[in-house]
Amino acid sequence: MTVASVAVVYHSRYGHTKVIAEQIAAGVRTAGDVAVEVVSVDELPEPGKDRSLGGKWNVLNQADGMIMGSATYMGDISSEFKQFMERSSGLWYGQAWKDKLAAGFTNSGALSGDKQSSLHSIVTFAGQHSMIWVSQGVMPSSYTNDGKNLNRLGAWTGFMSQSDNGGPDVTPGQADKDTAQAFGKRFGVAAIRWVKGRN
Ligand SMILES: Cc1cc2nc3c(=O)[nH]c(=O)nc-3n(C[C@H](O)[C@H](O)[C@H](O)COP(=O)(O)O)c2cc1C
Repeated sequence: MTVASVAVVYHSRYGHTKVIAEQIAAGVRTAGDVAVEVVSVDELPEPGKDRSLGGKWNVLNQADGMIMGSATYMGDISSEFKQFMERSSGLWYGQAWKDKLAAGFTNSGALSGDKQSSLHSIVTFAGQHSMIWVSQGVMPSSYTNDGKNLNRLGAWTGFMSQSDNGGPDVTPGQADKDTAQAFGKRFGVAAIRWVKGRN
């Protein structure tokens, strides 16, 4: 029986951020008794006239924690991810996601690429929903010098990765995938502790 449930909700137009979402989910699974579902914002139906949200919105509503991620476009989250945020406003009104765990991730083409803005957008969104933020938790490779190259981009607020000008089958590389798994595991462990403490 699973103790906690986690949803990884993301937007990816060209597949690179999707690869990271899947790696994060794989990491969550290694934490133990956690159920994980990966949901693209493209799968979330638009609200009904009464602002009701059905379909895969229920996966998010039922999760104990949500790891949210978007590709960085023009120095911030994608317009599709922003639409997801705005569509959740009916849930925000009732604070339906209050006290769920939350974390954020983003992928971009440049090493920096201004993608801290994407994490800031996601942490602000989590705050609006009164969620509880879980940070990245892996020290950057420039400090560890352990040869693993984990967190090579040096993020703390959330997870960052970078893809070169190639397909999602070749980039982002293994170090970013390994970092995604470590980040997912950290979140899964936190979700188990959070649910056990609540019950
Ligand atoms: C419209 C658009 C805007 C972009 N803006 C940025 C940017 O501001 N910074 C950056 O580093 N990369 C930028 N990129 C590159 C993407 O972040 C990169 O290709 C990423 O892998 C796309 O993720 P996806 O495959 O999940 O859609 C942009 C790409 C597009 C299509």
